Amino acid sequence: MNPTYLTIALPKGRLGDEAIQRFKAIGYGDAIDSDSRKLVFVDEVKKLTFMLVKPSDVITYVEKGVADLGIIGSDSLLEDERNLYELLPLGFGYCYFAVAGKKGEIIYQRDDVLKIATKYPNVTKAYFKQKNQAIEVIKLNGSVELAPLVGLSDVIVDIVETGKTLIANGLDVIEKMMDVSARLISNPVSYRFKNEIITDLMDQLKKVG
Ligand code: PRP
Repeated sequence: MNPTYLTIALPKGRLGDEAIQRFKAIGYGDAIDSDSRKLVFVDEVKKLTFMLVKPSDVITYVEKGVADLGIIGSDSLLEDERNLYELLPLGFGYCYFAVAGKKGEIIYQRDDVLKIATKYPNVTKAYFKQKNQAIEVIKLNGSVELAPLVGLSDVIVDIVETGKTLIANGLDVIEKMMDVSARLISNPVSYRFKNEIITDLMDQLKKVG
């Protein structure tokens, strides 16, 4: 990629859609065609390159310096400690971490080991350690809500946004854990060497946050 461009990794999906709206609102997202299956969009005028990647891969692209900046949910930052800068809360992507289980079943605090399915093993372990609850973590990559329904786990730890996925699967929030929202992250070297353009972009994004 052209090194004179600022490269931004955006997460595919809901968070990415909101991010694209923000970039378009500040006149930086004209090159992005959300209906296309393309993964890279170059704005020759603004000298920006956008890459669309799996949400869980945004951190990797930024940490490795392939992308200068990334947009990510703070859930991923809590789960994975990496060498990058968290620059700005972006004012969207609000959701929360929760422990959830089958409606009406009180199976949260228990003397024996609680089986928890989650995409977030580190967040889950840290949370239950502080509660002195013995747990077994079952790492899944998605559709976590299925696990308690089929007996793979007692409960889940996941992020909840609208709550529709829980409701659709007969699950309930047992306990809210912590809030999550979208963040702008930067590769540390990019932040140093492309500081002016990054700071300018941050100023623009603050206006639509
Ligand atoms: C996330 C999350 C929940 C769902 C919550 O999953 O893991 O499953 O969204 O959203 P809601 O409260 O608005 O229903 P995602 O859509 O990323 O899919 P995945 O399960 O395949 O990871």
